[in-house]
Amino acid sequence: MKIEVKNLKKKFNKNLVLNNISLTIHKNKSTIILGKSGCGKSVLIKTIYKLFTYDSGSILYDGKYEVNIDKFSMLFQYGALFDSLKISENIAFTDYINNKMNFDKKVFSLMNDVGLDKSAFSKYPSEISGGMKKRAALARALYKNPKVIFLDEPTTGLDPINSDKINELIIKVIRKRKITAVSITHDIKSAIKTGDKYYFIHNGVIEDEGDCKKILKSKNKVFKTFVTGGKY
Ligand SMILES: Nc1ncnc2c1ncn2[C@@H]1O[C@H](COP(=O)(O)OP(=O)(O)OP(=O)(O)O)[C@@H](O)[C@H]1O
Ligand SMILES: [Mg+2]
Repeated sequence: MKIEVKNLKKKFNKNLVLNNISLTIHKNKSTIILGKSGCGKSVLIKTIYKLFTYDSGSILYDGKYEVNIDKFSMLFQYGALFDSLKISENIAFTDYINNKMNFDKKVFSLMNDVGLDKSAFSKYPSEISGGMKKRAALARALYKNPKVIFLDEPTTGLDPINSDKINELIIKVIRKRKITAVSITHDIKSAIKTGDKYYFIHNGVIEDEGDCKKILKSKNKVFKTFVTGGKY
């Protein structure tokens, strides 16, 4: 799905978070949203996901204002699994809560796709590692066969080796399933590895944008400072 955001404004009371955001999310590509903490990255993707309304501007989904959000899936920033449910029940959550019980085959297939050992099927989240939990959360996000997946900091909290594994997995899965991906990350290495196009938010606008493979070559001063970890 192609998503076009034009002159988007979003405020919470007097807090103008998104001042004038324009960007295009291309079909079956991986778009990366960058920017410092609190700049509005999560608000932006939640607004695109229709979890928030906006004040002005427009968002077009394949050229239309209307969209069926069943086509969307999100890996939330603090998207923990439900502690009291088994991994299989977490992955099949939407069917599980609706008492549809014959989801085992689909869950095993997804577990295989995200590299989760079969033995995790009946375990509880407290019994598996952080990296495995991320895999389970990814499987849950994939369960409804989304056309667009929003990933809010999918590798935060993982060590570099596990981050790399999750990044590779995300690339593999979105290519194989032809999914449009929109990811937020603080990790420049992940952005370069997993992204096609990046957008950098600063002071409520897109301050810089370009090809992820050229992130380190950007001439934008503010973005360069962000990339090198400096204060701006
Ligand atoms: N539901 C809400 N109600 C009111 N204000 C909110 C709400 N959600 C976010 N905000 C405000 O919007 C601003 C941007 O928040 P957001 O979570 O999008 O930042 P972020 O770029 O994702 O930061 P981080 O990298 O730390 O996750 C913050 O000032 C925050 O307080
Ligand atoms: Mg956030």
